[in-house]
Amino acid sequence: MQKLSAAPATIADFAQIIRAGGLVAFPTETVYGLGADASSSEAVLAIYETKGRPRFNPLIVHCADFAMAETLVVFSPVARRLATLWPGPLTLVLPKRRGAPLSDLITAGLDTVGIRIPRHPLALDLIATAGRPIAAPSANPSGRLSPTTAGQVIAGFGGRVPVLDGGPCAAGVESTILRVEGDSVVQLRPGALPRAELEAIIGGPVGTIATGHGILAPGMMSSHYAPRARLRLEAMAPRGGEAYLGFGPSPTGWRGPLRNLSPGSDLREAARNLFSMLNELDGEGAETIAVAPVPPTGLGEAINDRLARAAAPR
Ligand code: TXA
Ligand code: MG
Repeated sequence: MQKLSAAPATIADFAQIIRAGGLVAFPTETVYGLGADASSSEAVLAIYETKGRPRFNPLIVHCADFAMAETLVVFSPVARRLATLWPGPLTLVLPKRRGAPLSDLITAGLDTVGIRIPRHPLALDLIATAGRPIAAPSANPSGRLSPTTAGQVIAGFGGRVPVLDGGPCAAGVESTILRVEGDSVVQLRPGALPRAELEAIIGGPVGTIATGHGILAPGMMSSHYAPRARLRLEAMAPRGGEAYLGFGPSPTGWRGPLRNLSPGSDLREAARNLFSMLNELDGEGAETIAVAPVPPTGLGEAINDRLARAAAPR
């Protein structure tokens, strides 16, 4: 990675690091990303190495606008309609355009590319100023919780990567990933854009694949987002020695470690707090974090998906 004489301060400084083949962590509306020039294999390799990410797990490419996206992938009419949700927390897996200026490491050998236009002014400014698509997975060491603040990125990588600080992320869970093949739309990962909004756009159902289909969405590997503590899900109340992650009214009289995703049972607030609160409770040392039930509707689909993975045996 490039040696810096001074800490980068402006968007132009961060963009210059990308152009020179270096890594930059930057905010999106979902979580922080660990970005590099998507056309440079050396730069993309540095992402895999820094994260300790298996090479067979492909990366999402972030674009500044639709014109940039069109240089990389081919849009079917349905894909084009879904792209009206951009900028936003939606990743479309689409056929790679022949001759697209992308490192082969991005796609891990697939003939499709996961692509999105993030809805965060700093992210859009960074990509536009760099003048090229930026490959970025979530900015966490592989297998750990995704970061929603600059501080969590720094804690994860020990200050080895410069971080463009945009404050806490608005959504707090990653983008929804859809694979679009012609008219067929399949959700590979539930995320910050709820299913109902996608179905309203396409005027029909969004399919689902069962977990464990490896290469379709390697992010669907069950042990992912692993905190150090064990998780006990659907816990109506904490037991002695546990930490408790609540949703809705907090248990009365509980004196152990406690966070509440949303005392007022608001799923948006819960999504925004999910990774930060898991992180905080994990840092307080309890062996088990008991988690209150979260309804599976709307954003609850993504929240329950992340909780189930965090709870998976490893
Ligand atoms: O919100 C987000 O999506 C964040 C921010 C930084 O944009 N990024 C993110 O990236 O969550 P990552 O690498 O943690 O998750 C990307 C997921 C992985 O599960 C990967 O397997 C899947 O996208 N993916 C990427 N390209 C794919 C492709 N061509 N086919 C199937 N899955 C793909
Ligand atoms: Mg990730």
